[in-house]
Amino acid sequence: MATNNYPCIRTKLPGPNATQYLEREKKFVSPSSTKTYPLVVKSAKGMAVTDVDDNVFLDFTSGVAVCNTGHNHEQIIASISSQANTLIHMSGADFYNPLQIQLAEKLSAICPGPHTKRAFFGNSGAEAVETAFKLARYHTKRSIVIAFYNAFHGRTMGALSLTASKLNQRKHFLPLIPEVIHIPYAYCYRCHYGLTPNKCNMTCVTWIREELFKTKVPPEDVAAIFVEVIQGEGGYVVPPKEFHKALYQLTRDYNILYVADEVQSGMGRTGKMFASEHFDIVPDIITIAKGIASGLPLSATVASEKIMNWLPGSHASTFGGNPVACQAALTTIKLLEDGLIDNAAKQGAYIINELKKLERTYPVIGDVRGMGLMLAAEIVKDKETKEYALEVRDSIIQKAFSKGLLLLGCGRSAIRFCPPLILTKDDADIALSIFEECLKAAMRSKF
Ligand SMILES: Cc1ncc(COP(=O)(O)O)c(C=O)c1O
Repeated sequence: MATNNYPCIRTKLPGPNATQYLEREKKFVSPSSTKTYPLVVKSAKGMAVTDVDDNVFLDFTSGVAVCNTGHNHEQIIASISSQANTLIHMSGADFYNPLQIQLAEKLSAICPGPHTKRAFFGNSGAEAVETAFKLARYHTKRSIVIAFYNAFHGRTMGALSLTASKLNQRKHFLPLIPEVIHIPYAYCYRCHYGLTPNKCNMTCVTWIREELFKTKVPPEDVAAIFVEVIQGEGGYVVPPKEFHKALYQLTRDYNILYVADEVQSGMGRTGKMFASEHFDIVPDIITIAKGIASGLPLSATVASEKIMNWLPGSHASTFGGNPVACQAALTTIKLLEDGLIDNAAKQGAYIINELKKLERTYPVIGDVRGMGLMLAAEIVKDKETKEYALEVRDSIIQKAFSKGLLLLGCGRSAIRFCPPLILTKDDADIALSIFEECLKAAMRSKF
């Protein structure tokens, strides 16, 4: 076992300092985000997150799939510090910025497809999606957009129109952007059509062609299909390769743009720079955020020169492509290319194998899935009925927190494992052993 100084829980949780902050937060901070547990963070380094009471946690969330290079990587700190000493801001909306140009060139090279691409820089995943939405309409002059149930694309009005993940995210915000049509995703563990995987004739795509496009939606009015290559917030759902292949072909047949939302699955997380590469897909537009700049706010929407040919004034952002964030992104990409992507593939293969062993032992695990370090275990009441076990799932996450392991949920009753890509086998073993203790505790309280 490792000699790391984490996890190390010294106080009851939340500790006295955290409790004080939580009271102040309640009074002064918007309560609109769902916090998973009372973790008030003071500092973080590598895989470890320290709270304001000096409890040290092992981070299997990467701050929600953001800190792919680990927390406060020394090369990221050096790049940010040196850039901050040179230039912090001179808006890319009105002026030129060498780092934006350099990063755009790099994204053109690393995004799928040999063609030259252009990048638009924003500050968040939702902004990247908003940009893609506007660009798709602008380029095609078509209005309809197709997205998927359980999709999460962000919470600004345009992105929210595509999101269909949880009711609370949409409740009281309607009406959203019209002409967004949601259809079932290839969630084979719970096939919408009740079909058996590999024997389904890709009904979730053929239905679009044979039913949707013949009854309700004229394909020549469809601008784009927005798809998470692997669904993120919706449950880390990995579709079969044929799904993306068939969907992509459909978009070719009707001149529809294929927009891959890689906000969560991108930047090395799945063991390749982009999850699209696992599926041999070259998206028309790709949205990137989260892991791109190791924690600084930055997003990119990337498309070919032909698609991203809108007129000056069509779209811009004051802060987007900030030089400090761009410099952090360039260093992040270098670290990913220099070994972290390979490590994600290697450690991910180890963890999924171990999770599958737990799946065979513990009846509460209905499904284990994922790619690289984008992994999930779906918690169920019964393996046969697959009934969602939301409370059991939440109790496992809370128990893990009390033992110093940070996990997050996703979907209706899954637990996601998305640690920084610097993870070692020792870190993985610590997390797996805590997770197993929590499974045992959940089983004891359940039966
Ligand atoms: C696939 C995907 N798209 C978009 C977003 C929105 O990103 P942000 O929260 O940075 O706006 C997320 C966030 O979880 C996401 O997972």
